[in-house]
Amino acid sequence: MKCQVCRGPAVIDVRRHNANFCAEHFCKLVRDQTAKAIEEHEMLAPGDRVLVAVSGGKDSLALWDLLDELGYEADGLYLGLGIGGYSDRSGAAVRAFATRRGLTLHEVDLRADHGYDVPTAAAVTRRSPCSACGLSKRHLFDRAALEGGYDAVATGHNLDDEAAVLFGNTLRWQTEYLARQHPVLPARPGFPRKVKPLVRLGEREMAAYCVLRGIDYIVEECPMAEGNKHLGYKEALNEIEARSPGSKQAFYAGFLARAVDRFADAAPDHAEGGETASCDRCGVPTTSGTCAFCRLVERAAGAQPVALTRKGRPIDA
Ligand code: AMP
Ligand code: FES
Ligand code: ZN
Ligand code: ZN
Repeated sequence: MKCQVCRGPAVIDVRRHNANFCAEHFCKLVRDQTAKAIEEHEMLAPGDRVLVAVSGGKDSLALWDLLDELGYEADGLYLGLGIGGYSDRSGAAVRAFATRRGLTLHEVDLRADHGYDVPTAAAVTRRSPCSACGLSKRHLFDRAALEGGYDAVATGHNLDDEAAVLFGNTLRWQTEYLARQHPVLPARPGFPRKVKPLVRLGEREMAAYCVLRGIDYIVEECPMAEGNKHLGYKEALNEIEARSPGSKQAFYAGFLARAVDRFADAAPDHAEGGETASCDRCGVPTTSGTCAFCRLVERAAGAQPVALTRKGRPIDA
């Protein structure tokens, strides 16, 4: 196996590109693909200040490394979700990376700063942990970016993530979601720009990038997200990809190039900034009264903290 660029010994094959690469040229490929996604979707302008949401997993730590390498002023934001030892280990991985690289990390802790954690919020709302978690993340990422004067929030969603979500939305023809599935959401009053610069790179590439760059990430997935609802879609797409390399990229990139605009009519009004009121607690644009985040805080912050459970059974994290 020889590197397609320098003919030196290769360390990885990328079937989608039908090519092998040495460590140096593989890392260059990952950097180039990130830069290409940023440029093609006009995610960031040179010199933009970016707030990178970092979970301690491979994608977001690699993204932070890449944006820094590409010359953006990229600071990190870690959100402590209060999911037992899993959150402790995630936070430690993020802090260690920031210290080693001399990067600025902001931290928000649900329990310390807002009086609740994800397990307790899930219990009091009787909704899935992921829904309380997703709501908290969206609101607090937005707030941190606006308060810190950042131009955009970047997340580590990769091609596998986006193709799996697209597959799920297409299977059920969820046109409202299809209309909004774009790797960049422009800023609008009260909300920062949101970008996903890793949409041209797969899971395997991100893991390899971390190993080759010496980035220590946590491998474990969130213990509350029981298998992750997109896992089945990912497996199905992986099988298709194995038979026909490049399918995933074609599916997702083709959707962006030729289909997403056709669903524009299905976008909900609030996606276009149709919020007509401001939250009476925190001031964010909302449809009426108190925003969903403040309502969650109101219910969860007064509740007795609960132990971690999955499908009603206690679990160890
Ligand atoms: P997930 O929603 O867990 O699939 O994560 C998607 C993206 O959200 C990650 O790539 C990160 O950019 C960001 N993210 C997830 N969890 C956290 C966290 N606890 N703190 C900061 N960012 C996070
Ligand atoms: Fe959100 Fe697990 S990371 S519920
Ligand atoms: Zn090479
Ligand atoms: Zn609010």
